[in-house]
Amino acid sequence: MFNPSGETLTKDKPVKKLFIKTHGCQMNVYDSAKMADVLAASDYQAELVEDESEADILLLNTCSIREKAQEKVFHQLGRWRKLKKTKPGLVIGVGGCVASQEGEAIQRRAPHVDLVFGPQTLHRLPRMIATSEAKTHTQVQASQKLPLVDISFPEIEKFDALPEPRAEGPEAFVSIMEGCSKYCSFCVVPYTRGTEISRPFASVIEEVRQLADQGVREINLLGQNVNAYSGTDHAHQVIDLAELIYHVAHIGGIDRIRYTTSHPLEFSDQLIAVYAEVPELVSHLHLPVQSGSNRILRLMKRGYTQEHYRERIASLRKIRPDISLSSDFIVGFPGETETDFADTMQLIADVGFDTSFSFVYSKRPGTPAAQLPDPLSLEEKRERLSRLQSLINQQASAISQAMLSSEQWILVNDFSKRDMTQLQGRTENNRIVHFTADDPDLIGQFVKVRITQVMSNSMSGELELV
Ligand code: SAH
Ligand code: F3S
Repeated sequence: MFNPSGETLTKDKPVKKLFIKTHGCQMNVYDSAKMADVLAASDYQAELVEDESEADILLLNTCSIREKAQEKVFHQLGRWRKLKKTKPGLVIGVGGCVASQEGEAIQRRAPHVDLVFGPQTLHRLPRMIATSEAKTHTQVQASQKLPLVDISFPEIEKFDALPEPRAEGPEAFVSIMEGCSKYCSFCVVPYTRGTEISRPFASVIEEVRQLADQGVREINLLGQNVNAYSGTDHAHQVIDLAELIYHVAHIGGIDRIRYTTSHPLEFSDQLIAVYAEVPELVSHLHLPVQSGSNRILRLMKRGYTQEHYRERIASLRKIRPDISLSSDFIVGFPGETETDFADTMQLIADVGFDTSFSFVYSKRPGTPAAQLPDPLSLEEKRERLSRLQSLINQQASAISQAMLSSEQWILVNDFSKRDMTQLQGRTENNRIVHFTADDPDLIGQFVKVRITQVMSNSMSGELELV
């Protein structure tokens, strides 16, 4: 068995029960899956449980992108303190971006936390847990001991230390880069996850192949800034995201490719050209614009104008006229005026964005935007947010309505949650479609359905015979 901890396997050790609570973005969802993989392949042979009171190891994968996310951490740890009182051997670990930002301060505020690890050190978990247990139980060799707070950035070591991925259904994320070097003035990511570093090309391809062998049909290439991807192949040639997508599309079994998140600045002509040549690349793009005001974009240090964004979308639409677009928006950035906000609303209407993420600006300690004067009240910011969200919702529901009676390819991923005689799958533009079928073997396959009903959060369809 692969054993990333480097310890010798002892057969008589009982299997540890592991519970992981994940906050935040898809990167965290991916990292949590890797924590489970690493601990399952280690001496602990950890098994995931759904009930935290059953667990021997509790891990909290945290997010610090906005203040609210950060507050959730100590609430959760407060609940876990009660569990630990009834179960003294319980190991509690905190990972992710709050861990990265706060380090030892987490244990000062919550002394019942045994270990603190960052996004780049999760592969060291088995040895960190062993070190923590050694304090209370048996001794581990001094050479095996690791610090109990490790939020360093040992760069790409993590990927070399990860065991083979385990597919959970036909859709999978594959991380292709870590960190971000854009330093948008409002954002903590470059500080918590480090600067951009790309995973080697061969390692990405290997992971996609392993997933395809386990029945994965859709790959979502993941990173904070995937279009800054700059991997190297065996011949030390640089491979960019456009080229990576060509290679992934050639892997047998992979019929759908997505990537998240990309940045408008590096949305290159080469990447746009891929849409003409690679049908596996979905006709849906998440390209966060944040604001439609050039003045605010400059203060945000985004490095582009709204005209640049519009031009990139126009070029893409020449190739894929029906492409669906989504974005992230920040409302109430320091100094945002009603005119700036109106520019954002205009951009939303002109581009015709589909379902998107939008947030009121949250001041993050240590970021340059935290120094800017911010006179607008939270109430006014929330009012703008709700205007923006209702426009987006109107547009998204018009897009859904227009899909009525159309044929859609969906990747069937499960039984329907609300009715076990039905199956469900996802369209290219991320709509969940339920349909009746008595063949569970369709799970994991692409099928064509005709949309018969559009509801607020999902759709019904009829299976078409092909
Ligand atoms: N790499 C992505 C963003 C990652 S963070 C990009 O290029 O856009 C995810 C989203 O959180 C951002 O797009 C932004 O809309 C939001 N966000 C980040 N920092 C924020 C803050 N301080 N306040 C409010 N929203 C924020
Ligand atoms: Fe954050 Fe900007 Fe990077 S939003 S993740 S610093 S592109």
